[in-house]
Amino acid sequence: MIEFNNVSATYDNGNVGLENVSLKIEDGEFVFLVGKSGAGKSTFIRLLLKEMNADSGTITVNGKDVTKMSNRQIPRLRRDIGIVFQDFRLLENKTVFENVAFAMEIVHKPPRAIRRQVPQALEMVNIGDKAKAFPNMLSGGEQQRVAIARAIVNNPSVIICDEPTGNLDPETTWEIMRLLTAINSHGTTIVMVTHEDRIVDRMGKRVINIEDGHIVRDDVGRYRADEEARARAEVAEEDNIREETEQENNPFSAPTPELKENEPVKNNPFSAPAPEFKESEPAKDKPFSAPAPELKESEPAKDKPFSSPAPEFKESEPAKDEPFSKPAPVTEDTVKIAFGALTEKGVKQDD
Ligand SMILES: Nc1ncnc2c1ncn2[C@@H]1O[C@H](COP(=O)(O)OP(=O)(O)OP(=O)(O)O)[C@@H](O)[C@H]1O
Ligand SMILES: [Mg+2]
Repeated sequence: MIEFNNVSATYDNGNVGLENVSLKIEDGEFVFLVGKSGAGKSTFIRLLLKEMNADSGTITVNGKDVTKMSNRQIPRLRRDIGIVFQDFRLLENKTVFENVAFAMEIVHKPPRAIRRQVPQALEMVNIGDKAKAFPNMLSGGEQQRVAIARAIVNNPSVIICDEPTGNLDPETTWEIMRLLTAINSHGTTIVMVTHEDRIVDRMGKRVINIEDGHIVRDDVGRYRADEEARARAEVAEEDNIREETEQENNPFSAPTPELKENEPVKNNPFSAPAPEFKESEPAKDKPFSAPAPELKESEPAKDKPFSSPAPEFKESEPAKDEPFSKPAPVTEDTVKIAFGALTEKGVKQDD
């Protein structure tokens, strides 16, 4: 579980990152983190990974208070939180297999475990056939699948995705969303930062909206709360009209018993999975036809892991027109930091 309690964080130059933020994310949740540029989303992630310190408040991850952790404890914290970035951040001079293996090597997993778990993680994301390829031989979607394999290979309880589909076309975007949905259905918590309303709208998951360092909204629904409110109002209005009509047409109908004003609207389209999901349709290439046995072996899959419907992809939807952001140079150290093998003092041996 992740818990923020009255957390405030300021950057050295005085910029406010977050102000008095409290929230709870339960194990196994799938949460979207949305908000304008500069709202505080990345600050939230930095605090979670203890890449920066809070000025006040407490941050708890799986029962441990991050704000009180010593540098020695940081690698362990980061090991339990897999990360997926918009720009993939694969090491160009390593093969697909080696990239994923690297996340295990830096936490000193034995070669035998690496030989067993890396192929399983690659199978899980349906990229096993590219194990020997180098990143520059792969499409963006394939690279992101490798990055996801790297994020899951150490079996973290949480995966943070910072705009994981920001550089991908719509079809590939849904491939990645199917993958994350499947991983989530194994019990892994997913926190995904995104600016893409169509993803949020179709997934129908919890949405935490941060603006100016504050949480301004936290509920299940669509990307824009006002749209949601409008949709709810429309549904409620339709219900009212139907009820009124039914009563008018039925002279024997009893007076409406205790009006359930406070009850949630039954047919709220957003409390259910996004309507365009095709429940019966299997994901195209069935990347998850067999769950990777290493992934939380002992835990029962929560709810039919791979029946998770593929969000419908609209073929005609144009690719995003924003130019791809230039990938930051990725070094072994970047990856080590992300996967928990470094403290501020340098490479740390496994404890
Ligand atoms: N390294 C930094 N030094 C000083 N101020 C920073 C730093 N990083 C972020 N900020 C400031 O903190 C606030 C929150 O930034 P943050 O990076 O968390 O935004 P974000 O929601 O992730 O935005 P984006 O969608 O653009 O990634 C902003 O005002 C930003 O200018
Ligand atoms: Mg950011």
